[in-house]
Amino acid sequence: MRFPLEVFDAVRDTFPADRPVWVRVSATDWVPNGWDIEGTIAFAKALQSRGCAAIHVSTGGVSPAQAITLGPGYQVPYAQRVKAEVGLPTIAVGLITEPEQAEAIIGNEEADMISLGRAMLYNPRWPWHAAAKLGAQVNAPKQYWRSQPREQKDLFKNTQYGQR
Ligand SMILES: Cc1cc2nc3c(=O)[nH]c(=O)nc-3n(C[C@H](O)[C@H](O)[C@H](O)COP(=O)(O)O)c2cc1C
Repeated sequence: MRFPLEVFDAVRDTFPADRPVWVRVSATDWVPNGWDIEGTIAFAKALQSRGCAAIHVSTGGVSPAQAITLGPGYQVPYAQRVKAEVGLPTIAVGLITEPEQAEAIIGNEEADMISLGRAMLYNPRWPWHAAAKLGAQVNAPKQYWRSQPREQKDLFKNTQYGQR
């Protein structure tokens, strides 16, 4: 852990004190004798004691020896363990594709935030669609206000077209 902790300290020392620095980890290499969740928890505790603001929990995808069971939210249990055992604000990632799935991860306190990779590449306005589905609101640039769906009249905040 020495190298990444030294990197964290160097970044934390340099970055303005009133701004957060957090770390993204591969919680496991998915290979015997590789990096694992126990190491990740120890590492996260060391980061916490150095003033790390949050931890973003992914997993490794670099070894041909891996046998990963891919499925919706396949990395979330790793985030859940880090959140439960360390208590740092924790971000979950990995095959989170549906708004209700994302909401459940937060609602069940499996993680404090979720992050999207491929789903956002596929649909860059994923958060707008999620907000529409979950009955929430988003800030949209003025140029987009006329695109608000008729059946979602409260989706965009502060629009003059909201009632049309
Ligand atoms: C082929 C592939 C390899 C990846 N390798 C790693 C890795 O070595 N370490 C890591 O932390 N995350 C790795 N990731 C996870 C991504 O960095 C990212 O967190 C993930 O794609 C986000 O989940 P999503 O795209 O399913 O939303 C990998 C993802 C893919 C698709």
